[in-house]
Amino acid sequence: MKKFKVGVIGATGMVGQRFVKLTENHPWFELAVVAASSRSAGKTYEEAVGGRWFMDGPIPQGTKKLTVMNAETDIAKIAEAVDFVFSAVDMKKEEIKALEEAYAKAECPVVSNNSAHRWTPDVPMVVPELNPGHIAVIDSQRKRLGTRRGFIAVKSNCSIQSYVPALHPLKDEFGLSKILVCTYQAISGAGKTFETWPEMVDNVIPYIGGEEEKSEREPMKIWGRVANGVIVPAEAPLITAQCIRVPASDGHMAAVFASFDKKPALEDIKARWASFKGRAQELKLPSAPKQFLHYFEEENRPQTKLDRMLENGMAIAIGRLRPDTQYDIKFVCLSHNTLRGAAGGGVLMAELLCAEGYIQ
Ligand SMILES: NC(=O)c1ccc[n+]([C@@H]2O[C@H](COP(=O)([O-])OP(=O)(O)OC[C@H]3O[C@@H](n4cnc5c(N)ncnc54)[C@H](OP(=O)(O)O)[C@@H]3O)[C@@H](O)[C@H]2O)c1
Repeated sequence: MKKFKVGVIGATGMVGQRFVKLTENHPWFELAVVAASSRSAGKTYEEAVGGRWFMDGPIPQGTKKLTVMNAETDIAKIAEAVDFVFSAVDMKKEEIKALEEAYAKAECPVVSNNSAHRWTPDVPMVVPELNPGHIAVIDSQRKRLGTRRGFIAVKSNCSIQSYVPALHPLKDEFGLSKILVCTYQAISGAGKTFETWPEMVDNVIPYIGGEEEKSEREPMKIWGRVANGVIVPAEAPLITAQCIRVPASDGHMAAVFASFDKKPALEDIKARWASFKGRAQELKLPSAPKQFLHYFEEENRPQTKLDRMLENGMAIAIGRLRPDTQYDIKFVCLSHNTLRGAAGGGVLMAELLCAEGYIQ
């Protein structure tokens, strides 16, 4: 099978570095281009990253000496050199929107980690296990953009990545009606480490800008339906969220309360989690976890440090399922925010798009 040539725009940042790591030794993808801002352009990747290499293990040997390209001015050259790009730039929302559209119009598919296009109606926001059918809107997006190959597909925010998968297999069968969720989010979600954000040591901050709105709104697009070439968001269930920054390096935890039209038995819920498989598992995509949803019977699990790397950080860890006094049930769940919640989710989505023929 041919290897797809891949570029990463925003390759020097926290999420970009994850993309660099995840494409090292990938069976389908070969990293051909790294690009970032004018501050990094022209340097080797190793020089540009300098003291900001946050990943475990060294910079991949083949990437160290790649010359960083300018993500804003080298678009045509980059589009020529790769089959698609991962986008992990940190810029103003309108600038990211325009930049990603410029890549798509240069016939370069964009798999984006950014929020800029999440609410563009013909841009699919995909969790491959939950709503793989949404990629069908790419056909109408291409018509709008006037492209043959180019398009944009996005992944959802990291905050929803644990509780939406856990609720998904229950939603239709039991009529999921109401969700209350509190998320406890790691500092890497802000692109930070304890070295670069020492105020987070021994501290909790009860505010993450924009996160609660995303946590309440984005599940509606994922649970929406395709009609007339766009995604029509779902209108139910009702969701209320509070998002809190906690002193963990990686791993977003969520405490979830949920009610249903038809209250399920706890054993039925566990059985549905155990048997749940999505398109990513059916297609045996290289980054897909074998078991997407893991339930822990131990009452002190999942724990961020112990369980965030479950199945290479691509699975969801769930625990403490029990009845609630005001909602039908409550439970806790966890996902790795820069793997499943960011770059790993992006790589899995790219694998889906290749397997389904949207990237060729
Ligand atoms: N961290 C997470 O867990 C997470 C999760 C989900 C989504 N996100 C989103 O993903 C994006 C990247 O986050 P991050 O944490 O990786 O940020 P980051 O560490 O600050 O990295 C930002 C990247 O964007 C590049 N960049 C900045 N300005 C640019 C410009 N004008 N033109 C081209 N490239 C530019 C930077 O290049 P230089 O090095 O040259 O400045 C760097 O490569 C953000 O939009 C963030 O909201 C992050």
